[in-house]
Amino acid sequence: MTETLDVETEVPEKASQEGEMYTWHEGMEWNPVERIILERRSVRKYKDKQVPEKLVRRILEAGRFAPSAGNSQPWKFIVVRDREMIEDMEKYVRLRCKVLKFMLNWQTSPLGKFAWLYSQMGARLMPNLMHPIPFGATALIADGKLKLFHGAPTVILILMDTRGAAKPPVDVGICGQNMILAAHSLGLGTCWVGFVEVFKFGTKWNKKLGVQWPYRLVEGIALGYPVAKPDGMIERELQEVDWWEDGRKRTVF
Ligand SMILES: Cc1cc2nc3c(=O)[nH]c(=O)nc-3n(C[C@H](O)[C@H](O)[C@H](O)COP(=O)(O)O)c2cc1C
Repeated sequence: MTETLDVETEVPEKASQEGEMYTWHEGMEWNPVERIILERRSVRKYKDKQVPEKLVRRILEAGRFAPSAGNSQPWKFIVVRDREMIEDMEKYVRLRCKVLKFMLNWQTSPLGKFAWLYSQMGARLMPNLMHPIPFGATALIADGKLKLFHGAPTVILILMDTRGAAKPPVDVGICGQNMILAAHSLGLGTCWVGFVEVFKFGTKWNKKLGVQWPYRLVEGIALGYPVAKPDGMIERELQEVDWWEDGRKRTVF
């Protein structure tokens, strides 16, 4: 069954004029858009209350309007709000994480030096996934210490069209962040769930969700009403920025 989008708002016909929204002046507070960006935090505990469908549709709309290389819009969304299905996906990923931990974690695996060998191979084949942070999280999920969707009642899965122009993973990241910021602005909590990629170590979920070439499931977004208020603005690492102007370079923070 196909339904048209009903978000109860008009998409603005023309872009706002320069300076029309928030004109900067010395000593100005963070404006509402900046606050949404700075205050957003990943939420890992949700209320047992479903998000109204209209809000989910507004969030998808924010994703749809993301910029993309050559305007190729290399994404597709799947919304899952079926509790049982969410739990099944969670169980599936936990089981796969257990297998990965058994195969690759040479410090704990009964496979001993074979696990070390497999981990060396894994580090070459999927260096980003074998980074200590996701690898540590794999063990936490395997041990049931980290949830996959954190009890969120709605999950948005983002598929990437692998034929997208130039850099589809970047486009998909921007698209997801649009949705995450829109959700935060609507009083909802979100968490990126990169671990949905574990579905690729099997066929069950790609089949069930109808994920087919040229699409690939790359990210998930857990969505719901946060339990308690997220931490708000947390400091980030200060990064040096090389700043070129008037023929010379400065370093700024
Ligand atoms: C691409 C991506 C994948 C992520 N995957 C997960 C995940 O699988 N599980 C999780 O709990 N958090 C995940 N996160 C959330 C990060 O851990 C989080 O953004 C980071 O620690 C910074 O915290 P903040 O979002 O509260 O600012 C992911 C974030 C990104 C951008």
